[in-house]
Amino acid sequence: MAITNRFATSNAVKLDGFSFFSSFSGKPNHFLARRWSQTTTHSRGQISCCYRETSLKADTQFVMPVTETKYDSEGIGIVGFLKGKSYFVTGATGFLAKVLIEKLLRASPEIGKIYLLMKSKDQDSANKRLYDEIISSELFKLLKEMHGSFYEDFMKRKLIPVVGDMGEENLGIASETAEKISEEIDVVINSAGRTTFDDRYDAALSANVLGPERLLSFGKKCKKLKLFLHVSTAFVTGKQEGTVLETPLCIGENITSDLNIETELKLASEAVGNFHGSEQFKKLKELGIERSRSYGWECAYTFTKAMGEIVIQSKRGDMPVVIIRPSVIESSYKEPFPGWLQGIRMTAPLILGNGKEQIPDLLADYGSIMDVIPVDMVVNGTIAAMAKHGCGDNVSLLKVYNVTSSSNPNPLRLGEMMDLAHQHLCDSPLPEKTKDLERMKYHSSLEGFTSSVSKTLAKHEREMNNGEGEAESHIRLSRKGKRKLNYFVSLAKEYQPFLFFKARFDDTNTRSLIQELSMEERKMFDFDGSFIDWEDYVVNIHLPGLKKELLRKRST
Ligand SMILES: NC(=O)c1ccc[n+]([C@@H]2O[C@H](COP(=O)([O-])OP(=O)(O)OC[C@H]3O[C@@H](n4cnc5c(N)ncnc54)[C@H](OP(=O)(O)O)[C@@H]3O)[C@@H](O)[C@H]2O)c1
Repeated sequence: MAITNRFATSNAVKLDGFSFFSSFSGKPNHFLARRWSQTTTHSRGQISCCYRETSLKADTQFVMPVTETKYDSEGIGIVGFLKGKSYFVTGATGFLAKVLIEKLLRASPEIGKIYLLMKSKDQDSANKRLYDEIISSELFKLLKEMHGSFYEDFMKRKLIPVVGDMGEENLGIASETAEKISEEIDVVINSAGRTTFDDRYDAALSANVLGPERLLSFGKKCKKLKLFLHVSTAFVTGKQEGTVLETPLCIGENITSDLNIETELKLASEAVGNFHGSEQFKKLKELGIERSRSYGWECAYTFTKAMGEIVIQSKRGDMPVVIIRPSVIESSYKEPFPGWLQGIRMTAPLILGNGKEQIPDLLADYGSIMDVIPVDMVVNGTIAAMAKHGCGDNVSLLKVYNVTSSSNPNPLRLGEMMDLAHQHLCDSPLPEKTKDLERMKYHSSLEGFTSSVSKTLAKHEREMNNGEGEAESHIRLSRKGKRKLNYFVSLAKEYQPFLFFKARFDDTNTRSLIQELSMEERKMFDFDGSFIDWEDYVVNIHLPGLKKELLRKRST
């Protein structure tokens, strides 16, 4: 029986004099219409298999709040807060936390120590990871300029790698180390997580549910801890339509009381015992999908992140907690320089499917919202929230911030992003490109998508064989072709819930935080995504960044 989580019932909310409506009004979005005419008119009408026209009409009516932006002269006092404090950061080798560490060190060279939990077999390997993945990274080039020949010394004084694992009891940290650092830490920042959508269920539960619980226990032992800050995801409610509020998740309130986390842990552990080898991997992935979908979530990733939040909410006692919920995090907008990203993930596999593999098909709704937020804005929002709530005098606090872009007057649409990417990759192709890229085709069913990709792959194979081989009506792919087809079908299944996404993330708390910044803080810690010109960001910042990352990955 399918049990839907109760967030799926809230469709409209009135906030400070403005309204969000989740119903489709038939009125075009003027911001989008303007960008549309600037960027894509040349190609309209050429596409046979997409939902372009209808989805543009089916746009959500949205009214921006008419509020004046005031910058309090004092502001939050972010720089003052950072100075001298010590931090315990998890996920430091990951995309987000690396940018966070860079910004903390750059904004406040007088910061205390930053302890970094790292999966490593011993201290030497942890030190090596610190050097190879952080100190040597191009991301830190501004800090290198700032500190010149003292750069490495500065970094090694501030950044202390701690051997550990969120998946182990007591975080896998040696007890003497844990005791020593628990004396010093002011803020715990949890950015570690398993981020693969269709992850094996046991591993996702261990890192995303038990991990935060263990970290919370560690936080409770830290004598002068002022704040526990947890990075979650905006997709944590599993809600696909309407408005997603910045409210904590709580079983029996906004999450069905049928969900029992102990039962989920038991199911995963039984599956580990019952299956072995490659079958175990397959079964645990299937279990993750099945359990998530049965409770109304998209995948094991968002479902386990939700359970992680629930555990924090229910076990925090009187610990002040801030939960940051970013949407899809992409390349840096400005800081430390535009276009930095780590890994070929998030929207990159979709873009490269067209630009690199020359497959024009997507299982997606052209008009669905692609809630993207640049990594430096997530970092700045996180630091501002930490400084605001980290004073240690608000014990009852649990505050959620959606650091997102879909409630802006100019949200980015999936089709628009793909059009921009397509045009850019036609004008400035990847080395793999051997022929003109076909325009994207949007499919509403997996069957239609699979059949179209098979035909395209068969056509590619015929062209490679100089037109010889099966007649067009017969699709018999080579082994390599079948492998490619399987890849595209599994990618489509994995991304499907996010590519038909209709909800908007309410960001009232985040917007209030922006209002509290002083003029100076506003310049130094900008996280107001409503000013992003998406066309400029996608074409001039994100895609060049993605190409650079592709080159870096190839060369390593
Ligand atoms: N990227 C996005 O678009 C996005 C969007 C919304 C929310 N988020 C959230 O933001 C956070 C950071 O995301 P990200 O993109 O930076 O992820 P990422 O690049 O995949 O990095 C994940 C980090 O978590 C660490 N980690 C994983 N399992 C661990 C374990 N058992 N013990 C200790 N460390 C472990 C990884 O360490 P290793 O290097 O050792 O594997 C890595 O440092 C996550 O919590 C994610 O859910 C991300």
